[in-house]
Amino acid sequence: MLRFTLSQTTPAICIKGRTHATCPAPFCKILTLTKVFTMSDTSLPPALLTALSDLLGPSGLLTDAGDTEAFCTDWRMLYHGRCAAVLRPASTEDCAKAVALCAEHGVPMVPQGGNTSMVGGATPDNSGKAVVISTNRMTRVHTIDHADLTMTVEAGVTLKAAQDAAAAEGLMLPLSISSEGSAEIGGILATNAGGNNTVRYGNARELALGLEAVLPDGQVLNLMRRLRKDNTGYALRQLLIGSEGTLGLITTAIIQLQPAPRSRETALCALADPQAVLNLFAAFRKQDPAAIQAFEYMSGTSMALVNSLIEGASLPLEAPAPAYALVELGSPRADDSLRTLMEDVLGQALEDGLVTDAVLAESEGQRQALWMIREEHAEAQKRAGASVKNDVSVPLSAIPEFITKATAACEALIPGIRVAPFGHIGDGNIHFNLVQPEGMDPKAFLAQDHAMMDTVAGIVRTLDGSFSAEHGVGQLKTYMMPSWRGGAELDAMRKIKTALDPKNLMNPGKIFPES
Ligand code: MLT
Ligand code: ZN
Repeated sequence: MLRFTLSQTTPAICIKGRTHATCPAPFCKILTLTKVFTMSDTSLPPALLTALSDLLGPSGLLTDAGDTEAFCTDWRMLYHGRCAAVLRPASTEDCAKAVALCAEHGVPMVPQGGNTSMVGGATPDNSGKAVVISTNRMTRVHTIDHADLTMTVEAGVTLKAAQDAAAAEGLMLPLSISSEGSAEIGGILATNAGGNNTVRYGNARELALGLEAVLPDGQVLNLMRRLRKDNTGYALRQLLIGSEGTLGLITTAIIQLQPAPRSRETALCALADPQAVLNLFAAFRKQDPAAIQAFEYMSGTSMALVNSLIEGASLPLEAPAPAYALVELGSPRADDSLRTLMEDVLGQALEDGLVTDAVLAESEGQRQALWMIREEHAEAQKRAGASVKNDVSVPLSAIPEFITKATAACEALIPGIRVAPFGHIGDGNIHFNLVQPEGMDPKAFLAQDHAMMDTVAGIVRTLDGSFSAEHGVGQLKTYMMPSWRGGAELDAMRKIKTALDPKNLMNPGKIFPES
């Protein structure tokens, strides 16, 4: 069998297809590969291995365990799977051929983008039978169209690279998430990511006009239409979006853009509690709902973790508070009306005692410093030890009741637990994250993850919410599906899965619980 190994001779590129020095990926390493040995770590049938090798070439097929390991562990280090190989096709055509070959041999396939899933959605299981199909060599931005306000991008373009490409043309890709430096467009669409701008522009689903995907049998599904209206049968594009790679592998997309904002106002506010944060949101919404670009909530506990564990983060307010809001207003107009709006609403809120302190960014540098404080919450919680994420949504009006009840219930369940919620409060999505008590054995804490998740989900259910708002089901939450989406809903989902993937080869073990 063939084996690939590090080459001293070919030019150095990393797993993102970039030079090692410029790659932001945390697990980036040099992978310049040539065929040199005749042994392999892979369990793939020899005929398949040879066919994949001929198709994908040395940098498109990794079989050495040392090279595949980074693709088999999730960002949170909760899941450690194994795979027979990592396939890295550089085009839709190669991807389709590789999928067809795997399907022919009955080999399970795990699509993977930037590997930033919070729910183990892109990690293979432990059997070592599956191949990971990574999109990280499909990195072309094909076109940016000013008349249609769209961009056509391949699946492996990172969200940050896509945002930068749009910005370079005076446009904006209105999707922003904390992992945007690594998360890739294909994975973002496959999971229907939300993030900071959902309050104004919707989730990934609302931004994708067109899509191309490889189905589990290797057929290419071409839905690359740039139409706002297109009522021609089932909206297959929407079926693929949010399917977490279980129905196919997204290879290219047409994303809607917006004119770049020419004025922007960003403020960080201290408040007494989540109800006050919601009242502030309502005050802005009453004046100009269309100006609200982002409205984020951070609890005092979560903010304290950022302050103590992230180098360079410091709270630019007089004193710590129980709750914070990060407010961003944006407009394509270049006048100063947003500053007036921000000052009017915050001035009144300070006078009423709703906001206890606030700072406004006076420069792009200060704006980025405020956003850095918000975007480091996930990283700070990771550094604080083991944590359990509850990515939930409830109706806006129920958020204060949810946070109060869930906090009390979790504190009763595990004394000393650090309840550290934050999230996209403007669209009803709270990351009700639970950090282990200081000094507790992380394994003992994680052994109770279902007890914690069920406690929180039980309260979410009484408030008509969802147990997964934007992170998906992945493998972490499959066990919740029967009780939340049971009956006709789960039955219909299974029928769709079986129709498109009768052999259950595409991302098996995700979304659906073992039946
Ligand atoms: C974020 O909004 O920063 C992430 O989606 C949240 C998380 O880490 O739970
Ligand atoms: Zn989030």
